[in-house]
Amino acid sequence: MVCLIDRPSSWRLGVLLGFILLMMLPWVRLPAKSAAPAESRTVVAAKGMAVSVSPTGTQVGVEILRKGGNAVDAAIAMAFAMAVTYPAAGNIGGGGFMLIYPGNGRDPVVIDYRETAPQLATREMFVKDDNPYSHRVSGTPGTVRGMELAHKRFGKLPWKELVMPAVRLAEEGFTLNEALAKSLNAVVAEGNAEFKRYFGKNHGIEPWQAGDRWVQKDLGKSLRSIAENGAEAFYNGPIADLLEAEMKRGGGLIRKNDLAAYQAKERKPIVGTYRGYTIYAPPPPSAGGICLVEMLNILENFDLKQYGPNSAETIHLFAETMKRAYCDRARYLGDADFVEIPAFLTSKEYAKKQAATISRTQATPSEKLAPELKIASEGESTTHFSVVDGNGMAVANTYTLEHSYGSRVVVRGAGFLLNNEMLDFNRKPGVTDRKGNIGTEANTIAPGKRMLSSQTPTIVTKDGKLVLVTGSPGGRTITNTVLRVVTNVIDHGMDIQSAVDAPRIHHQWFPDELRFEAASLEKQTTQHLRALGHKVFAARQGDAHSIWVDPKTGNYHGVADQRIDGKAEGF
Ligand code: DON
Repeated sequence: MVCLIDRPSSWRLGVLLGFILLMMLPWVRLPAKSAAPAESRTVVAAKGMAVSVSPTGTQVGVEILRKGGNAVDAAIAMAFAMAVTYPAAGNIGGGGFMLIYPGNGRDPVVIDYRETAPQLATREMFVKDDNPYSHRVSGTPGTVRGMELAHKRFGKLPWKELVMPAVRLAEEGFTLNEALAKSLNAVVAEGNAEFKRYFGKNHGIEPWQAGDRWVQKDLGKSLRSIAENGAEAFYNGPIADLLEAEMKRGGGLIRKNDLAAYQAKERKPIVGTYRGYTIYAPPPPSAGGICLVEMLNILENFDLKQYGPNSAETIHLFAETMKRAYCDRARYLGDADFVEIPAFLTSKEYAKKQAATISRTQATPSEKLAPELKIASEGESTTHFSVVDGNGMAVANTYTLEHSYGSRVVVRGAGFLLNNEMLDFNRKPGVTDRKGNIGTEANTIAPGKRMLSSQTPTIVTKDGKLVLVTGSPGGRTITNTVLRVVTNVIDHGMDIQSAVDAPRIHHQWFPDELRFEAASLEKQTTQHLRALGHKVFAARQGDAHSIWVDPKTGNYHGVADQRIDGKAEGF
């Protein structure tokens, strides 16, 4: 204090003002932490682009595009290749959603290849035992039928040409990178004997090293029969025999009749608008499209641009919006072939009413949003890739085994992993709790029914022109990751790399917690959010391999999400 007296008075005024500001900090809106400008990882190309978590998968997609295949051809080849090169989530034993934007004024479509509950499944089968690593947790796989349907509807190159790159990768092997070697070593340590035999180096005795060559003979055999005989090999042929035998051996439920009856379905996407842009995303059995459009409709009522992407105001508004949409997800959403889904969820009027219930000074406790429900006291397990071809056809594909490496059950002799997607049903009917278990009726188990998903492969257009292709893994966080990428581009004018790199946030109604990627948020922002009544904690979120189209040049800008390994490649 003594030295202050000798300073010029404007300096003293400055210190005083500084002190007052410091006291106010939790309530002052600050810009996002100013990180050093990120090194560009964006790949720019004019004729075609593929972006995925698997560098080999991306290369396979680009080779197909170079050969004259369209975006759907490339996506099919990538899906099969990644069943070999990214076994944590790439699969033929799981399912997913492919959103296709055909271009040339044709309507976008969704290929729903979500798994179904086997005929032997029962509503209460997981009430007592829901061990995720068992034979009982697998739904009838949809991936191979899904790729077949996408090919029938839009494919240009012959089927065999699209599956053969995967066959070669499995039969001849490919070189493991560091990420895959580590991932395999971690999971082999936990797996059963067949899993160790199949996925371990020297039956799991030695650890894999980056640079090792990995050959998958059994999987190669399965893929070759799919390449030569089509999806029938999987659903009505030798693979079906092996799958049923595996199920019987381990107490699983899938039978040959389930496989024979499985159908991939072509569906109309959910279509929404946001500040003049058009949004396409999957309909039920994914909650993704409805939740995404409901959230965008709610957020349209607020001037997000003014608040900036990472201010406490913006994050509060996102959290409150997410809570409301996820509450509706729990209340109403399930397989639309089994339950009626209210149409108002995606209407602007409903969103306006929802927006009006958001307080700017206080978080709404989750329980208050659904008083009719009696409230009793989800890594690398899904993967999304984006593809565009030279004619403006685009594909956003998300597919999964549910957990990383699914149920950890390998079909003996067929070399592929089964999903544990049955766990996406509401396992305990009637029991909705604070931990986030949902027990509402719409998503309870019934034979043949598809379990509710959060997968949200998304395409954004403006004035009939392609703008953005995106999506992510991450269970219930998926839709919120997509929401952030979309709003980062539309509201904040971010380039695609910044939009993908920017910190993400997640609220899913229950647990009543606000998750965010901490390192990039100011401490004051979190203090502000706590003061509003949010329970906040830090968590990494998602893996959004995305493509943006420059409206001036028409060039494709692809970026792999740096949160996990990945590769964008174009030509
Ligand atoms: O379909 C779903 O929503 C989930 N089975 C996806 C699981 C997932 O994304 C796991 N995480 N990375």
